[in-house]
Amino acid sequence: MRSEQIDARPEWLEEILRRRPVISPSLLACDFTRLGEEIRALEEAGARVLHIDVMDGHFVPNLSMGVPIVEAIRRLTNLILDVHLMVDNPELFLEPFRKAGADALTVHIEVAPDPRPLLESIRRLGAAAGLSLNPPTPIESVLPFLSFCDLILVMSVMPGFGGQAFQPSALEKLRLLRENRPPGVVLSIDGGIKAANVSLCTAAGADLLVIGTGFFTDEAGTYGERLHRLHRRALELAPARGA
Ligand code: DX5
Ligand code: ZN
Repeated sequence: MRSEQIDARPEWLEEILRRRPVISPSLLACDFTRLGEEIRALEEAGARVLHIDVMDGHFVPNLSMGVPIVEAIRRLTNLILDVHLMVDNPELFLEPFRKAGADALTVHIEVAPDPRPLLESIRRLGAAAGLSLNPPTPIESVLPFLSFCDLILVMSVMPGFGGQAFQPSALEKLRLLRENRPPGVVLSIDGGIKAANVSLCTAAGADLLVIGTGFFTDEAGTYGERLHRLHRRALELAPARGA
């Protein structure tokens, strides 16, 4: 349960649920030599949420972006910054990333089997509290904590790298989450999503689709055209609004 004003639910969560399905470009696949221009182009294209992958070289065998990058992105844009913490000690980083401008902070159940204190801290900081699970992690591990979450991020690849193949086992997890989620929880999916499989994700219940390679590399045309095309594909099998 939220404790009154300090952690009022961020308004943009309702907007995502109203506008679902929403495509969220994952910056891991963008051109980092032109990060500022990329952000501007995404903004002009009509993107609403940017996915930012944080890796520590321990929880995942790779490194990526950190607090200074989120700070720099925040100075450039008012877009929603959805920060995915693929790190072993998320408690150390919640406040720094929130101060840097993160709107959502997602932690992994694999590093916090009881994630309630983390999720509560995130809400107290005024951000949306996200919980993620890897492909081998059973859905039962997150079900007891849904009421502490604003967002659930189902991984459809092992985290650490972009450009991997989509693991369809994520779809069954989404279906179960759709049946069990308290009202207002955003269901998100991340990894290997492209035009060819995006509608399977929405059909299974995803509201927010994180797309890296499938947006920046595989699609052609302006970013506006890519967003539009992926959104149209995402709607093909999407359940009717309110379903
Ligand atoms: C994977 C990251 C993803 C990644 C997705 O560890 O969490 O956000 O950027 O990239 P694609 O869409 O290329 O699988
Ligand atoms: Zn991610």
